[in-house]
Amino acid sequence: MSDTATLQLPGQEPVELPVITGSEGEKAIDVSKLRAKTGYITLDPGYVNTGSCSSSVTFLDGEKGILRYRGYPIEQLAENSSFVEVAYLLLHGALPTTQQLDDFNDHLSKHSLIHEDMKHFFEGFSTTAHPMVILSSMVSSLSAYYSEASGAASVDQLEVNTARLMAKIRTIAAFSYKKSIGQPFIYPQDKLAYCANFLNMMFAVPAEPYEVDPEITKALDLLLILHADHEQNCSASTVRVVGSSMANVYASVASGILALWGPLHGGANQQVLRMLERIHADGDDLDKYVRLAKDPDSDFRLMGFGHRVYKNFDPRATIIKSACDRVLNLLGVDDPLLDLARRLEEVALSDEYFVERKLYPNVDFYSGIIYRAIGIPENMFTVMFALGRLPGWIAQWKEMHQDPKTKIARPRQIYNGETARDYVPIEKRVAG
Ligand code: CMC
Repeated sequence: MSDTATLQLPGQEPVELPVITGSEGEKAIDVSKLRAKTGYITLDPGYVNTGSCSSSVTFLDGEKGILRYRGYPIEQLAENSSFVEVAYLLLHGALPTTQQLDDFNDHLSKHSLIHEDMKHFFEGFSTTAHPMVILSSMVSSLSAYYSEASGAASVDQLEVNTARLMAKIRTIAAFSYKKSIGQPFIYPQDKLAYCANFLNMMFAVPAEPYEVDPEITKALDLLLILHADHEQNCSASTVRVVGSSMANVYASVASGILALWGPLHGGANQQVLRMLERIHADGDDLDKYVRLAKDPDSDFRLMGFGHRVYKNFDPRATIIKSACDRVLNLLGVDDPLLDLARRLEEVALSDEYFVERKLYPNVDFYSGIIYRAIGIPENMFTVMFALGRLPGWIAQWKEMHQDPKTKIARPRQIYNGETARDYVPIEKRVAG
């Protein structure tokens, strides 16, 4: 017999609501029939207590600092896997065999070029355009070239659309950078692996030979793995919401990119660097900025700190923090911001305000320092997050379409505006 919860509403008979248990023991009250049975809805701004779906992609326990993709701990994937393998795992639910991985890599190479006409689009953006808006627009415009991707059809064509998206997003990201610095576009090269191909498009120039540094490729691979999925976060939920209207996968992902751009979500990685630079330029006065972050009258927050779900530590931040030391050492980079970030973490973590609120460094706190060390410019940090998150978005989109319980996302509201009133002719109105 399945569990139920009993809800007693004023003036009504008690209502039994099913209790759902996840494979890791998490519990939910299924309120899908609540309004039909009682006339009531639930109200939960920011969806703090609301599950929007059941999912088998990623498991996260914020109290224990656990993150697993398809059951595999993030620490093991970070240690042993590659980004392309992790993308396959997220998309297909199982680690690939050698043959499957080779086929997937071939597929990605085959689709890495963008239509030549799309190159003209880059010309239309102002030189100050943020790369995230270029990325989103270009991904959205892919729907114009692959019409078989439209609506429901994009579910049947998902294999090819996934390969196109994963392959082309790299090319688009690198081209948008090249455009911003006035250098010629460097085309993708099939012989290079996923991350090396991206780095070559970013940093090679036609005038001289360029060798991709394997240590930099490894560091990028790690960062992309750590960003690859994070269950029902703001951008993944956006992708699901947009996709639930049967919008195609390119349009859905383009919307996810824009959601990610916000400074409270993926845009935080760029803001962290700006914040560290500001503190450094201000004489490394950490106490001043910690004070400011605690001040309810200031809108300053410690960027890269806090998380809706992690209330102990963010396992991704732990991995990135130790990778920071390793990568900067290997590359011989001495960045004063790394030392500053470490000290800021220490000061904040011994402050009652942060301890009480369970605010810890999140994935964005140290990632910018590695991006900077490997030559990625600050305004491309969130683009890197998007490259990493793409397989997660597609896996979530695919799962949503395969779930027979999926309905168009359409929340309700409690209306608290004016009640009915009569129209007033303009000559009788008084300014309010
Ligand atoms: N600095 C100072 N105070 C903070 C911070 C912070 N970074 N984060 C939360 N607080 C305070 C907040 O003011 C509130 O205090 P009070 O209870 O006195 O009103 C309390 O902590 C709870 O915060 P909240 O805003 O209700 O928490 P939330 O779950 O709605 O927000 C968050 C989570 C990540 C948006 C927030 O912690 C934040 O703004 N952090 C900085 C931005 C950031 O690093 N974002 C990246 C998130 S991880 C990667 C990703 O999702 O892309």
